[in-house]
Amino acid sequence: MTETIYFNYVQEVIHWGKGILEFIEDQRGEENNYEEIREKLKGLLSELEIIDVSNHLSKEFIESLQTEVDKLFLELNGSTDPSITNEERQSSGRVEIGGHRLPPLPYEYNALEPYIAEEIMKLHHQKHHQSYVDGLNKAEKMMANARKTGDFDLIKHWEREAAFHGSGHYLHTIFWNIMKPDGGGQPSGSLLRQINMDFGSFANFKKHFTEAANKVEGVGWAILVWAPRAHRLEILQSERHQLMTQWDTIPLLVLDVWEHAYYLQYKNNRKEYVDNWWNVVNWNEVEKRFNAASNLRWQPY
Ligand SMILES: [Fe+2]
Repeated sequence: MTETIYFNYVQEVIHWGKGILEFIEDQRGEENNYEEIREKLKGLLSELEIIDVSNHLSKEFIESLQTEVDKLFLELNGSTDPSITNEERQSSGRVEIGGHRLPPLPYEYNALEPYIAEEIMKLHHQKHHQSYVDGLNKAEKMMANARKTGDFDLIKHWEREAAFHGSGHYLHTIFWNIMKPDGGGQPSGSLLRQINMDFGSFANFKKHFTEAANKVEGVGWAILVWAPRAHRLEILQSERHQLMTQWDTIPLLVLDVWEHAYYLQYKNNRKEYVDNWWNVVNWNEVEKRFNAASNLRWQPY
């Protein structure tokens, strides 16, 4: 059964590839950068055409074929403006559509022990964060596909997926970096000054942030933000991270209070996890984020 599905997929790819080749042949003679894609497609098709039903098609083969097709599709999709070369796209440092990657942890998996167990860090980073990356990439590709075909019937679904997995990917990327082994203590310099100005004292701020984290309803985050409009720091709760509770803000300090962040070690004792988490905060990174983000100051209203 699976063999038949795999074989049908190969047939679909051949059909798709031939259609694209015909299209490219029609465009020949005009200024375009399809030449490279044309060669890649021809190579792929000649490989696929020797496959017949009697060949054993493995899951790995089909997955690598899907990756290859996705890559070609994206290159083709980005080729509508012939003045943008692949070299330019790659050298600009931008993340390609569907090209997000899991960032490496800036320390070992066991580095935050005893406050956060190695097993949690591994699971959280390798499984949960990876699934956000995968989900975001998929949503971006599906939205790119909608732009290509003009069929936006499922756009609400993919926009939601992009928000859910995108928030997951971006917030976790901050989360790993605002922690470090031998962290904790308190910030200094301009961030401390601003905290004192906006919350009265670091102790007041810490109490408020801790309470906010403990009282997030269900799943979500506690987030310290700089509000460029108000020129102030604020502490927000984000219940379910796909729903931004306040737009136009820049996360500085984020605390993951989804159960997967602590349950294996702390069971339902989120409070203890939150208390202990303060010992791994990387304030240098938070200050770095604050210094950059606080340059954003719009007209106050
Ligand atoms: Fe998480």
